Amino acid sequence: TISTQTLLVNGKNFTINADPNMPVLWALRDIIGLSGTKFGCGSGLCGACTIHVDGAPMRGCLTSLKQVVGKQVTTIEGVEAAQLRAKWAEYNVPQCGYCQAGQIMSAAALLATTPTPTDGQIDEAMAGNICRCGTYPRIKAAIKAAAT
Ligand code: FES
Repeated sequence: TISTQTLLVNGKNFTINADPNMPVLWALRDIIGLSGTKFGCGSGLCGACTIHVDGAPMRGCLTSLKQVVGKQVTTIEGVEAAQLRAKWAEYNVPQCGYCQAGQIMSAAALLATTPTPTDGQIDEAMAGNICRCGTYPRIKAAIKAAAT
């Protein structure tokens, strides 16, 4: 049933009318108008929809509005990731670019908890983010550069 939901996104409150079971990704893109978070598979497999909920990386397509009540949602539009963005540009990471917002969100969550990750920690943190162009080597290089 549609009801009034309040969502805290990138530090701002949004009051929307939606089903509390609606995935956050839908609300972000279609209601709030933040289209940086991408729809890839819609079933938790690709990571294109990665957001932060209270700082932790989550799948926007599998996270419902009722799960984020009272929590801070952060999207690619609001995440503090200046160093990552700079290295993404310097290393020409994106090819088609579609998955890259999700990649940066996962990388940002990693660096927030592990400022100088090992190769293994990077692989583990990024394993859920699929890139069909195969930009993985550049993603990894950019994360390492941003971390040092
Ligand atoms: Fe959510 Fe693919 S769109 S994991």
